[in-house]
Amino acid sequence: MDAALPNPYTPGEVPRVLAGRRTELGRIRDQLGRVGTFGEIGGPMLVFHAPRGLGKTSLLRAAQRDAEESGFVTAWVACSRQRPFLPELVRAVARALERAEVVPADESARWHSRLDRIGLQLGVPGVRVTGEIARTPPAEPTSAAPIAALEDLLHDAATRVRSRGGAGLLVFVDELHAASADDMSVLLNAWQNLAGDREHNPLALVTAGLPVTPEALTRAATFGERSAFVALDVLDEPDARAALVEPARASEVSWTEDALDRIVGEARGYPYFLQLMGSTTWSAAAPGTGDTIGLAEVEAGLPRAGEQLTAMYRARWGAATEKEQAFLSAMAAAGTDNVTRAQIATALGQDTRSISVPRERLIEKGVIEPVGHGLVRFTMPGFGAYVRARTG
Ligand SMILES: Nc1ncnc2c1ncn2[C@@H]1O[C@H](COP(=O)(O)OP(=O)(O)O)[C@@H](O)[C@H]1O
Ligand SMILES: [Mg+2]
Repeated sequence: MDAALPNPYTPGEVPRVLAGRRTELGRIRDQLGRVGTFGEIGGPMLVFHAPRGLGKTSLLRAAQRDAEESGFVTAWVACSRQRPFLPELVRAVARALERAEVVPADESARWHSRLDRIGLQLGVPGVRVTGEIARTPPAEPTSAAPIAALEDLLHDAATRVRSRGGAGLLVFVDELHAASADDMSVLLNAWQNLAGDREHNPLALVTAGLPVTPEALTRAATFGERSAFVALDVLDEPDARAALVEPARASEVSWTEDALDRIVGEARGYPYFLQLMGSTTWSAAAPGTGDTIGLAEVEAGLPRAGEQLTAMYRARWGAATEKEQAFLSAMAAAGTDNVTRAQIATALGQDTRSISVPRERLIEKGVIEPVGHGLVRFTMPGFGAYVRARTG
């Protein structure tokens, strides 16, 4: 038997080939073009938002590769509820500049003590900053300090990159929904000020988060709504097929049309599902160079994918409180994709106001998402059926 080829699919990791996302990459490239050509700020902060598993991190990582190839220095931060993200941003920018060797050796000591100072200013917790304070002259020095510190850092880093021949600085902030309102406010205020002096700031800011992100940003600072929000959707059919075909092509392995049809139908454009089912199919097929993957291998692999999904559904269910679980059961019992507030309240025998806490918490956890007019739906396909099977 031939030695099996390594599995090219990447459930839960950055994909080898980013399928589709041309429009989204185009939005990022437009901003980078502005930075590169005019040496000025790329534009408003870009915010990609979508439920987990739709490919936000993958998109940002692909953009990062692109940008580095065209001479940008990039910094990457992922927010988390466990720690304030601004000090991490300082570290990420510092690391990026070090890697790019942008700071000359004789300036290194000065640059580092400057970074320490900025980090200290940004690390101060509990400072509540509002858009109003930032727009009027700094009436409250403590509130304005972190904004000014972040502004300085980004301005300084970007101009250093540019003066050493780089295109500019590109900052990525992933999982932005997890940042505190204060941190978001500092970031938005600093960005607003930098944009006000756009010719002197060769930088761009690209972020991603769960669907609550736009609302959270607007709550953190009134002008948060001026950010450029872009929703990521599922992949359309040609892109879904490409997500399966392209990684295999590199190993000269192909797919039959009916095998592709089966997975594309099952995954409904959801990128994580495509990678997972691609991966379990590949394992079942164990193809060698020149082989073709057919429907039989897909069918052999699907139960494994199902087990993996069930484990994920179980984890989401287990992370929900009793009240949240009751909410989820009521939602699942409706049996439709989109469920109204009233339907859930009626099923629980409560009024619509008393279900708003579990509703908000589940939205924040990314288990459900609002789809307008008081409707919500599950963010992960198949979760409703799992809950019904469990509680029905
Ligand atoms: N455009 C894409 N083409 C192929 N696979 C993708 C694409 N976007 C995401 N994926 C895959 O989907 C899964 C989830 O992607 P990820 O970027 O982590 O999503 P998110 O950050 O939105 O939670 C990963 O396994 C990744 O390999
Ligand atoms: Mg992600």
